[in-house]
Amino acid sequence: MVDCQTHEHDVLVVGAGGAGLRAAIEAAASGVSVGLVCKSLLGKAHTVMAEGGVAASLANVDDRDDWKTHFADTMRGGQYGNNWRMAELHAREAPERVRELEAWGALFDRTKDGRILQRNFGGHRYPRLAHVGDRTGLEMIRTLQDHGIHQGMEVFMEFTIVRLLKSGDRVIGLFGYDRERGRFRVFKAKSVVLATGGIGRAFKITSNSWEYTGDGHALAYEAGADLIDMEYVQFHPTGMVWPLSVRGILVTEGVRGEGGVLRNSEGKRFMFDDIPDLYKNQTADNEEEGWRYTQGDKGARRPPELLTRDHVARCILREVSEGRGSPHGGVFLDIAWIGERLANGAEHIRRKLPSMYHQFKELAGIDITAVPMEVGPTTHYAMGGIRVDADTQMSTVSGLFAAGECAAGLHGANRLGGNSLSDLLVFGKRAGEHAALFAKEHSAAPIDGAEIDAAAAEALAPLERGAGADAESPYLIQQELQESMQDKVGIVRRESDLLAAIETVAALRERAQRVGVAGNREYNPGWHTALDLKSLLVVSEAVARGAAQRKESRGAQFRDDYPEKSEELGKITHAVRKGGDGRMQVEAEPVRELPPEIRAIIVENQE
Ligand code: FUM
Repeated sequence: MVDCQTHEHDVLVVGAGGAGLRAAIEAAASGVSVGLVCKSLLGKAHTVMAEGGVAASLANVDDRDDWKTHFADTMRGGQYGNNWRMAELHAREAPERVRELEAWGALFDRTKDGRILQRNFGGHRYPRLAHVGDRTGLEMIRTLQDHGIHQGMEVFMEFTIVRLLKSGDRVIGLFGYDRERGRFRVFKAKSVVLATGGIGRAFKITSNSWEYTGDGHALAYEAGADLIDMEYVQFHPTGMVWPLSVRGILVTEGVRGEGGVLRNSEGKRFMFDDIPDLYKNQTADNEEEGWRYTQGDKGARRPPELLTRDHVARCILREVSEGRGSPHGGVFLDIAWIGERLANGAEHIRRKLPSMYHQFKELAGIDITAVPMEVGPTTHYAMGGIRVDADTQMSTVSGLFAAGECAAGLHGANRLGGNSLSDLLVFGKRAGEHAALFAKEHSAAPIDGAEIDAAAAEALAPLERGAGADAESPYLIQQELQESMQDKVGIVRRESDLLAAIETVAALRERAQRVGVAGNREYNPGWHTALDLKSLLVVSEAVARGAAQRKESRGAQFRDDYPEKSEELGKITHAVRKGGDGRMQVEAEPVRELPPEIRAIIVENQE
């Protein structure tokens, strides 16, 4: 077998964002040995990009809130494509997970009487997002990291996993390499939790940093697990659009939660123009009422800027494409206007949104307390991912668990802001608990040396080809893929574009076979990029195929050629699997049926 160091743990967690850390904490607390592998440095995770808050019905700001309303909001936001059991567990357990985090040292903003403060966010009926200014994800990661490192887990930073190892139908370990020296490692484990986050790097404009190439999705798919709902990709309405070098960086929804409004180049609040029927009774139809809502008036309805992300992103796109955009191809997000309403407006904005204030000051030279920001949609989150059992988080492959963004089901066709942080706490814990139970019930299995040799040969192939004249550049392939996904599989989709994107992926996959890079294994970003291509191509194909097959518009999937929802297609989920011939298959399967008592909760909370 090729020369490589082997590590052995009961539970191996891949990914050290919020979900991975929470899973590792839970597994370690149950007494099993835990390894935690991350692609980047510990603490550098997309979790920090959920800035505005964590959704939980603590009812600290509005005592009408409860888990049932949170559940119903999540289902409506997901256009009923959600796995209802996951949505139920999530809404029921989120408050306890947030209080637990507080007990572990998270410092949330407070109400006047000292409870955790909650703010408004899109699609949530009541102020529900517990927050730490606009740095909530960061505070959560800090807390989980501090708590986690005292649990005795072994952390492997800057490692990429390239293959899941199986014995029969069961996962028994992982094969990867350390990104600094390029040396191979085998991680033996009785169970594995994937918590690798999203797929944002398949698109050109994204809030995701370089790590998010869909590794967990692709590892699971290659190992025979099902992916579901891959067509649903969330475009957050507000990313920076200028300067170009920072295009896509997130501008938290917390800005709108604190009273920020969207205007076009004519100064008009265009979000009043189009309020979906599903939200008519909850949405203000005049500026005054919307403002009162953000100030805590329980009788008022929320401003239209706090409609769901899919809808807001489409409205922004409409303004831009009809010539009413801002100079750099976005629209204006104005929080400065609250200076007219509040005596201490500028100070208030700096206190509520410190990171946004600094982000615009440092990166764009703009003072957001005085002038509007320019914003536009940015690829933010994958609702689709690895199919898991709602209660245990085990995938369709034995011993393989998934949690957080790389797992699917909770959010249906569109995720509500703040539900990602509660998702990773609730289901990170569940994944860790059940992976540990699985590990206790199973023994380690021997690794097949021939499989390791094959994985190593595949990983080394780009280096062996070198960067000669015949070799394809990994950077060019990545760039062409991102452009195609952005242009053809973006916010507005149509048949001809989707089919063209599927063809592009196939052509790029073929070229990726000839990818070659210069240099050796050490500190070689070209090699890393070449190895990331496999995952990027899998997730891109899955998104494009799912989108092509869903001939309707629902949540984050908007089809220009099928602009309406279809009752029939609302009842199906797309499952993506690798067929026996190695080709990707997308199959329509019925969405899990709602039991009568669960349906009743939705009906009760409809208005
Ligand atoms: O806008 C935001 O702060 C993002 C939150 C989220 O994606 O949950």
